[in-house]
Formats: sequence, structure tokens, C-alpha cells
Amino acid sequence: MRVLSGIQPSGRLHIGNFFGAMREHIRLQQDNDCFFFIADYHALTSNPQPQRLAERVLDVAMDYLALGLDPEKTVFWRQSDVPEVTELTWLLSCITPMGLLQRCSSYKEKVAQGLSPNHGLFAYPVLQAADILAYHSDIVPVGADQKQHIEVTRDIAMRFNNAYGEVFTIPRDHIIDSVAVVPGIDGQKMSKSYGNTIEMFEPEDAVKKKVMKIVTDSTPVAEPKDPDKCNVFALLKLVAAPEELAGWQDRYRKGGMGYGEVKKRLAELIIEFFNPFRRKRTELENNPDYVRKILADGADRAKAVADKTLAHARKVVGLGA
Ligand code: TRP
Repeated sequence: MRVLSGIQPSGRLHIGNFFGAMREHIRLQQDNDCFFFIADYHALTSNPQPQRLAERVLDVAMDYLALGLDPEKTVFWRQSDVPEVTELTWLLSCITPMGLLQRCSSYKEKVAQGLSPNHGLFAYPVLQAADILAYHSDIVPVGADQKQHIEVTRDIAMRFNNAYGEVFTIPRDHIIDSVAVVPGIDGQKMSKSYGNTIEMFEPEDAVKKKVMKIVTDSTPVAEPKDPDKCNVFALLKLVAAPEELAGWQDRYRKGGMGYGEVKKRLAELIIEFFNPFRRKRTELENNPDYVRKILADGADRAKAVADKTLAHARKVVGLGA
């Protein structure tokens, strides 16, 4: 199966990104033909500072490689290194009804959050469709928030195929469930835009400080507590071994355990969990040219596929020969 996904370079990645999507992406590379890219064209829709954008692309690349993305198995590149997708976006735009995009909730949400309502932000799902269709993706593993964009992609692909003949593979989404269950330190979904994240590779002291700040209820130490309503426990589930987790579950229910104690252990476990990757991350930081080379090789491989799809699409709409 051709599996494709994109990740926006919107700052240092956090443990919600890891347990929400990256872990699944890395797992999928074992048995599939994976294409993963860093969506810097999409990031432009929120008008980042130019210098920051370039740095963030490299940061995301290093995070993925440190966590086990294998560039031998997986095609891994920076979206803008294959500008063919923007031309494909235009071909798709010309058969995309305005109403389809007007119904997309992510545009409305982003504008409500304060992003400038530019045309790129509105047309974002068409660029995403071009990403998916250019590479003949069968499966697109994403968080639940992206489900609507995959529906839009399918709709656009079917319209195009109906109008011009079978050019595109119709993709399916693969919704990664765990996205919903990674709370940030304030208890809302962990997200860069809420400022409630714990980054994977931040210094150990910073991880400890943030974990100690996780919001809990004010049940006194002596009283029993409900693990299923606790943000600390929700994070513990991701990093603790099953026996240890069962032990904490008992201690919550029995009472006599303070949140400070379980938070301390959570911080240790998060640090231990990411430590082996942290070493790899440091090696990559010291060798940015190696990372650039991987992205450049990936772009060559991606381009070979996108070129063919674009040539086919151009031909059927009547452009070129
Ligand atoms: N919109 C996706 C997100 O914010 C990123 C993305 C861009 C993407 N192009 C894609 C995801 C193509 C899957 C397939 O998470």
C-alpha cells in the first residue's frame, strides 16, 4: 500500500505529536511503501517568519529521523522541493466547487484563532488534495481533525476522474485514534497553538517543570482519586509499563497518594522514554548537511512520481501536447 502523510513544520514537536501521529507513521513504514513530507507550503498559510520556517523544516526532519524514520525505506522530503504539486493544485482548483471549501471547518477555526483569512488558508485543502493525489496514495494516516480534508480530497479526485478519465487513485483515511487522548499540561488537547505542550527533546529540567504544572483536581492526598479523570494518569498510560501502570491505578483508588508523587515519576518516565532518541537527535543536530542530503534524495524520488502524475493530468485537461 502507498501510505502518505504530511506534517506541518509549526515548531518543535511535542509528545502529543509523537503519540498522536509520528509513532504510527514510523510503525507503518515496516509493511508499506511510505511517503512522508514536511508541509512547508501549507505552513506559509499562517505567514511564519522566513528564517523560522527554514529552521523549523530542519527541526521536524531531525525529530522524525531521530525517532526512527528510515530514509532507506521511506521517501522523506520537503514539500516545496517538488513544486509540481502547486501546478496540480491549480488543475484541481478549477474543478473544486467553492461550496466544498466553504464547508471546511479548519478554515473557520483558524480564522477564529486569529490567523489572517488569506486565500492560501482557504484553498489549503486543495493543496492537500494535490499532495495526496500526486503520489497515488492509497492510505493517508492522520489525526481526526484532518478527516474532512481527506473527504474533500476524495470528492475532488472523483470529480476529476469523472470529468477527464481515471487519472487519480481514490485514497482512504486512516484515523489515528490516540490523538484525542494526549492532554496538554492544562488538560486541553496537547497542541502548539494552546501553548500547553511538553516537547520531546527539551532539556530534562524543562520537562520536569512542565510535568509538575499539569492541572489536577484538588482532592486531598488522603482521599481516593479517579485515574480515568486525571491528566497525569492519561500521560502515564503512554510511557509506563503495564505492571507499573496497574500499580499507580491501585494507589489512585486507595488514597494516600499525592499528585506530586505521580508527577515526579511521570517526568522520569518521559525523559527515559525519549532518551535514546535524544542521543540520535544530538548527532543529527551536529550534522545538518546529512539531514539536508536525505531530504534532497527524498525530493528526487518524490519528484519522479509527481512528474508523471502531473504530465498525465495536464494532458487530459488539454494543456500541452
Ligand atoms: N494538513 C495536515 C495537518 O495539518 C498536513 C498535511 C498537508 C497533510 N498535506 C497533507 C496530511 C497530505 C496528510 C496528507 O496535519
